[in-house]
Amino acid sequence: MELLIKGGTVVNAQERCEADVLVRDGVIEEVGRHLAAPGAEVVDASGLLVLPGAIDAHTHLEFPFNGTASADDYFAGTRAAACGGVTMVFDFVTQRKGQGIREAVAPRDALCAPKACVDYSFHVALTDLTPQVLAEFSDAAAAGLPSFKLYMVYKRDGLMMNDADIVAALRRSKETGTLIAVHAENPDVIDRNIDTFRAEGKLSPWYHYLSRPEPVEAEADIRAIHWAKSLDAPLYIVHLANAEGMQAVRDAVNAGYTIYAETCPQYLHFTSEVYKRPDGRNFVCSPPMKGQASQDALWKGLQEGYIKTVATDHCPFTQAQKDWGKDDFTKIPNGCMGVENLYPYLLDAANRGRISFEKAVEVASRNPAQIFGCTKKGAILPGKDADIVLYDPHHPFTVSVSNMHSDCDYTIWEGLELSGYIRSTYARGRLVYHDGDFLGEAGYGRFVPCAPRKH
Ligand code: URP
Ligand code: ZN
Repeated sequence: MELLIKGGTVVNAQERCEADVLVRDGVIEEVGRHLAAPGAEVVDASGLLVLPGAIDAHTHLEFPFNGTASADDYFAGTRAAACGGVTMVFDFVTQRKGQGIREAVAPRDALCAPKACVDYSFHVALTDLTPQVLAEFSDAAAAGLPSFKLYMVYKRDGLMMNDADIVAALRRSKETGTLIAVHAENPDVIDRNIDTFRAEGKLSPWYHYLSRPEPVEAEADIRAIHWAKSLDAPLYIVHLANAEGMQAVRDAVNAGYTIYAETCPQYLHFTSEVYKRPDGRNFVCSPPMKGQASQDALWKGLQEGYIKTVATDHCPFTQAQKDWGKDDFTKIPNGCMGVENLYPYLLDAANRGRISFEKAVEVASRNPAQIFGCTKKGAILPGKDADIVLYDPHHPFTVSVSNMHSDCDYTIWEGLELSGYIRSTYARGRLVYHDGDFLGEAGYGRFVPCAPRKH
């Protein structure tokens, strides 16, 4: 089956050009001027940008967490992804105590495969770093699973990995071409703060922020970077949200170390002031939104190339779930939504001149593809999967729960005015979203085995 996208402006991370895109059997065959393909379905893309689909490197779909599960299952989450121009998601599998890596992934893959509307892969959050698990890094990488996350927090939830675990994992990652990611916050300081606030009856969402303010995150960023530097091992910091951590990343990168920083749209857009709002509980996620200085530092880091990826940490909980903590912030399930907002948000920033369209493509598509070894993704080039987004920079759009495709009953992005919007999303050549309508199907998405790093 052939598809010819004609007359658009193709934007890759390196450059843009006026070009047609010819797709055959789900793969980009040719990119060039005045292409012809008799019999092909022709799509007129004049006035539109033709972009590689975004890769959301951080989602938590039907994620068992905080005594409940996130509200989007693999179907709803990947449906929302498709409608936001995300053609691949990385979801997190949590290793339970005693489990092997592939043993942990197998049941999640079985759950995901029949429901996924776009392609997917997994990062594995390790919680039990036994010698057997360390030994399994190489087999996991060979099975297309070369990235592992360590929670430096959630001590009372039994998820935390200590410094010795971080060092062992980093060392082994170097031997195996795998990549260690960290959720960096200091658990002991957080837990002491929480105990103090509870004893004082300070239980509103504002105290979620005050229990884990800027230095709590920065200390852990700096600690993780320290260990990565000491071993000269690559490190990926998920959802970076503070200025001091951003500076530590900048310094390490400038000194020649491979430190990747990811941030999320919620940290670029909201500040800790949201926790004073009547709906403040809906913004409770970890790390929390920080102050204006941190937000400014993240934008600068993004513009200057020290933020390598923007992903969402999509982990929605319904109003009813969030209400568990209406009188006590410690009972609010942690997480916010965003998979449908990631690309439109970044492209809006490009449309307004805050970043370039190339930068939006770089951090939302090209870099996650390169960092995590998705060799067929991340660019509009011959041989790549035909994961293609058509973006109309002149079509204003206001985000509302009524025009989103998640199963969640509200969105933290309600009322956000965007200057342009996604017209269509193609996943491996198949139209899965067009003008507000989801056109994909459960089970279409495939597991993408990721390539290990060269070492
Ligand atoms: O609040 C968040 N971020 N929830 C999801 C789990 C995590 O820490 O990434
Ligand atoms: Zn996290």
